[in-house]
Amino acid sequence: MKNTAITFKDAKKTGQKLSMLTAYDYSTAKLMDQSGIHGILVGDSLGMVMLGYEDTLAVTMEDMLHHTKAVARGAKNCLIVADMPFMSYHTSIEQAVFNAGRLIKEGGAQAVKLEGGATFCKEIKAITRSSIPVMAHLGLTPQSIHAFGGFKVQGKSQEAAQALLDDAKAVEAAGAFALVLECVPEKLAQKISETLSIPTIGIGAGAGCDGQILVYQDMIGMYSDFTPKFVKQYTNVGIQMKQAFASYIQEIQSGAFPQKEHTFCIDDSIIDKLY
Ligand code: KIV
Repeated sequence: MKNTAITFKDAKKTGQKLSMLTAYDYSTAKLMDQSGIHGILVGDSLGMVMLGYEDTLAVTMEDMLHHTKAVARGAKNCLIVADMPFMSYHTSIEQAVFNAGRLIKEGGAQAVKLEGGATFCKEIKAITRSSIPVMAHLGLTPQSIHAFGGFKVQGKSQEAAQALLDDAKAVEAAGAFALVLECVPEKLAQKISETLSIPTIGIGAGAGCDGQILVYQDMIGMYSDFTPKFVKQYTNVGIQMKQAFASYIQEIQSGAFPQKEHTFCIDDSIIDKLY
């Protein structure tokens, strides 16, 4: 059965934990979908893990559309959420609705995600009014990296914790169907999860959230530039890939590859007649 924003909200009611991963391409999305993942986020983290930027700020709408289309071709059962990149919803409500619409119409996503709390409620309302489900994102919101002064845990002081809870209530009231909580102390994330009727999806926010999300390269050991504390590595394909690449190089040198079974045949008589 196809997962939707509604099945996400229903999961909160029944207490079923939600699983999400990021994906950015057809083959990976297809594997995740076949594994039974509830949702895929085409995150603007693609700027870092796919394109090699230091942060997510340079990611464009065209980048997001390109990768969302690939994911949509691969994943048929899970909910596909596309990130709204930096400056695609910041300058006007019209621009926010227009760009959210592009991710659905052209990209093939079924929902969009945007970073920010009360300040962006007008945009959340306008997008949901256009029948586009919105996933909100609070805590460490990477598009605000310069304002935060680095990748830091958020909501640790009394004031910051209250502001986070207030923002969470505000995005729910504005119509968000789910909320990503990134790098938030576990007890605060639990309090927010208990307070809201929409599901919280945690990343570095502990087990009290209604679901979890990880960047897939982090959890399979494929991105070695930086591994956050909250990542659990389920395998290390980085090591396996390097071993495979090295064997390939070595076998080309030694002549062990390619062999007969990797090649195509032609009648000798044809070759003989060539001049
Ligand atoms: O861009 C992204 O991958 C995200 C997740 C870390 C939640 O926003």
